[in-house]
Order: sequence, then C-alpha cells, then structure tokens
Amino acid sequence: MGFTINVNGADHTLEVDGDTPLLWALRDNLHLNGTKFGCGISACGACTVLVDGAAVRSCTYAVEDAEGTEIVSIEGLADIGMVALQDAWVEEDVPQCGYCQSGQIMAAAALLNEIPQPTEADIDATMTNICRCGTYSRIKKAINRVAADQ
Ligand code: FES
Ligand code: FES
Repeated sequence: MGFTINVNGADHTLEVDGDTPLLWALRDNLHLNGTKFGCGISACGACTVLVDGAAVRSCTYAVEDAEGTEIVSIEGLADIGMVALQDAWVEEDVPQCGYCQSGQIMAAAALLNEIPQPTEADIDATMTNICRCGTYSRIKKAINRVAADQ
C-alpha cells in the first residue's frame, strides 16, 4: 500500500506497510541516513526528527501516522533556518563519538522552536535524549549559545 509523506519539503510515496516505523522509511527508502537507530523502543532519542515542528522519536512513529505532516530530518535542518544550531555544535565541540548527535540537534531544534530562550529547567525537562559519551554539558552550552543569539 502507498503512503505519501513530506520530508524536508518534498513529497515521497512509499510502498510500505502502514505500521512501518518512520525511521525505516527515512533510512531505507529515502536513504536519509543522518537519523540513527539506537534502541528501537522510543527510549534513547537517537532517531529524533521534527514532525510539524515537534520532536518525535521516529523508531516508534508509524508511516501511516506521518501522512499529512511536515517531517524534517537532520538533512533538512538548514532549510528551516536552524543552521545556527549546527554552527553552535561545532563551536562548542559537542560530539564525542557522534552517534546520538543528530537526534540531540533535532530535539534542540524542537525546543528552540517552542521556547526561543529556554531556561536551564526547560533544557533539562526537554533534552531527554541519551548520550552514552556524556556530552550533556556541551549540548547545553550549544543550546544556550543559539538562544543568546536569537
Ligand atoms: S532509536 Fe528511537 S528512541 Fe532510540
Ligand atoms: S556523542 Fe557518543 S553517544 Fe553521544
């Protein structure tokens, strides 16, 4: 069965089962490999993308539910005016192994969409993605850097 999803501004019709996780559609069908697989149970956040501006863990989000939404993956971040986030990640030298970082950046994008100048408490409450390398303090610095400039 075909499902049409809008990713990074373009429509794509995919012949997949409706309950296919959006993460598989992004990676396997659309070859957008910046979004990562971590746990597969909505626990780690490595697979975070934006759906209508909000952070969604795509490993447990069905393609059939994605129809009619606007999805942004890490590859589309610059197109929604969030290049400052990527610059801040570089300036603060955030990544260690890097595996969790596209999910972290997308979670931060959703946070800054909703709260342009988040407090420490806002960041702590929202940034629940796991980083096995423990880059949390640098993630927070990068978010604060963007917030200070906007
Ligand atoms: S892979 Fe989706 S939350 Fe871990
Ligand atoms: S940078 Fe290694 S898991 Fe986050």
